[in-house]
Amino acid sequence: MLRDADMLALLMTRKPKHSLPQPFYTNPDLYQIDLQRLFYVDWLFAVPACEIPKTGNFVTMAVGAYSIIIVRGADGQVRAFHNTCRHRGSRICQTAKGSSPKLVCPYHQWTYELDGTLLFARDMDPGFDPSQHGLISVHCRSAGGMIFVCLAETAPPFDKLAAQAEQYFGPHRLDETKVAYESTIVENGNWKLVLENNRECYHCSGMHPSLCRTFDDNPNIAGNGDGMVDPAIQAHLDRCEKVGLPSRFHIDPWNQWRMVRVPLLGKAESYTMDGKAAVGRRLGQIPINNAGTLLFFHYPNTWNHFLADTVLLFRVLPIGPCETQVTTKWLVHKDAVEGEDYDLKRLTEVWIATNDEDRQVVEQNQLGIFSPAYRPGPYSGLQESGVIQFVDWYCDTLQSRLTGRGMMAAV
Ligand code: FES
Ligand SMILES: [Fe+2]
Repeated sequence: MLRDADMLALLMTRKPKHSLPQPFYTNPDLYQIDLQRLFYVDWLFAVPACEIPKTGNFVTMAVGAYSIIIVRGADGQVRAFHNTCRHRGSRICQTAKGSSPKLVCPYHQWTYELDGTLLFARDMDPGFDPSQHGLISVHCRSAGGMIFVCLAETAPPFDKLAAQAEQYFGPHRLDETKVAYESTIVENGNWKLVLENNRECYHCSGMHPSLCRTFDDNPNIAGNGDGMVDPAIQAHLDRCEKVGLPSRFHIDPWNQWRMVRVPLLGKAESYTMDGKAAVGRRLGQIPINNAGTLLFFHYPNTWNHFLADTVLLFRVLPIGPCETQVTTKWLVHKDAVEGEDYDLKRLTEVWIATNDEDRQVVEQNQLGIFSPAYRPGPYSGLQESGVIQFVDWYCDTLQSRLTGRGMMAAV
């Protein structure tokens, strides 16, 4: 069995600016370390707040061995709890989403308030104290309308991200949106291959004919930020900032998250086959045409596109060492009417195709890595600086957490 020390030793053997040694993508023990050291301690994107707009609306979410309930309380606040009953541990919410005035365990009907307190437990012995048997909380915060959860006992800092998100996402008014469509696919690949693939557009021209109608595969866009000196991108940033749209490249000091607003190709407004807007009713307050797309990633589990008419949210959750769930949500204005303001096929076809194309490349990448002949290969500095940035974040974070050194170890 591989343990922390083996993981550390393997981290030491990795060649900088190269893909990782095979066990990082295949080994079940290293996968468990990824869960323990990253997914069980970092903030993870869960759902947009608009998906649970009313009291009692809830969703469930699986993170490794955990199941989490995210629910809106009577006071309007969104909270998260472990989905395990304080009686004998049954799952309480057994569907992916729903609505309920109380959280009632189906097994013996222990009944919890939406704030997690135990309200009712039938026929318990004298002396039983309900106040000691409330649901166990999970950290839960909003970043500009995106709900994040954290399973750690002490959560890493979140305030800077929340403040930056308020500023950058604010004009898109996520509080005035609804989920027009969602898709969940399973990719037979390690979660890092899914992230690596997202962090470059080296593959785009060969793999994504629909996306490439509107998305610029200029490596300066997908990259690590060095390319923001590109005059075309700089001109776009200036134009957006001038009208009050926060757009400048911003990356957090630990490289865990980044925001930047980049141009789409030509006069494209949205990810449609003809580049025209997908939704007649625009979002919030985007004061100019051709505002492009605001890109936001947060490791280890989300990347996102904020357009003038649509917000596309992507959530990545590992299911096993070589299996990853990818959920995509298309947000539109809450009053936009399907069939009048937008056509669902037109709205979703580009990214449904793109996701499937990405699934195929990730799966082929995984199959190739299974071969004993696999050797870590060099990333292109020009085309894959974003992948280098992700893999460096992954290795640095794990290393500091495994050794207990550095800022990242604070969690
Ligand atoms: S396990 Fe939930 S009420 Fe018994
Ligand atoms: Fe792709």
